[in-house]
Amino acid sequence: MKPDAVERGLVGEVLARLEDRQLRLVAAELRTIDVATATRHYAEHEGKPFFDRLVAFITSAPALVVVVEGPEDTWRVVRTMIGATNPADAAPGTIRGDLALDMAANLIHGSDSSEAAQREIAIFFPDLA
Ligand code: RTP
Ligand code: MG
Repeated sequence: MKPDAVERGLVGEVLARLEDRQLRLVAAELRTIDVATATRHYAEHEGKPFFDRLVAFITSAPALVVVVEGPEDTWRVVRTMIGATNPADAAPGTIRGDLALDMAANLIHGSDSSEAAQREIAIFFPDLA
């Protein structure tokens, strides 16, 4: 969950949605992500016009770094629950569609493949990988 989720006091609501969906909490830590870690995490976006803004936002205040697990393709379940990147396009019922309005402050990141999930878990929780 990105810094806006922590600042707005929405981590409980977002975690509750994931838990209500029967995803199991495996790891969670409130952490101010440093620039090197954010750059590694978002490496696919390096060089894009929004990259510096994205890293500045993600590192600006504590985030809640979470790993959840489910029976199969959990990354896909979570992405569907999160909704479109731009909250203006996110369907009602999704996390962004219900709770966000801003493209940068869009509350939550979700891995976009099982390979990405493995790579990202190794960055934030090396003991789990
Ligand atoms: P995330 O990685 O944070 O879960 O978001 P996502 O997959 O839905 O979107 P992605 O394409 O990976 O972009 C990462 C974050 O960068 C910001 N962004 N801004 N055109 C823009 O101004 C732009 N495009 C992307 C968003 O905050 C997005 O969540
Ligand atoms: Mg992404």
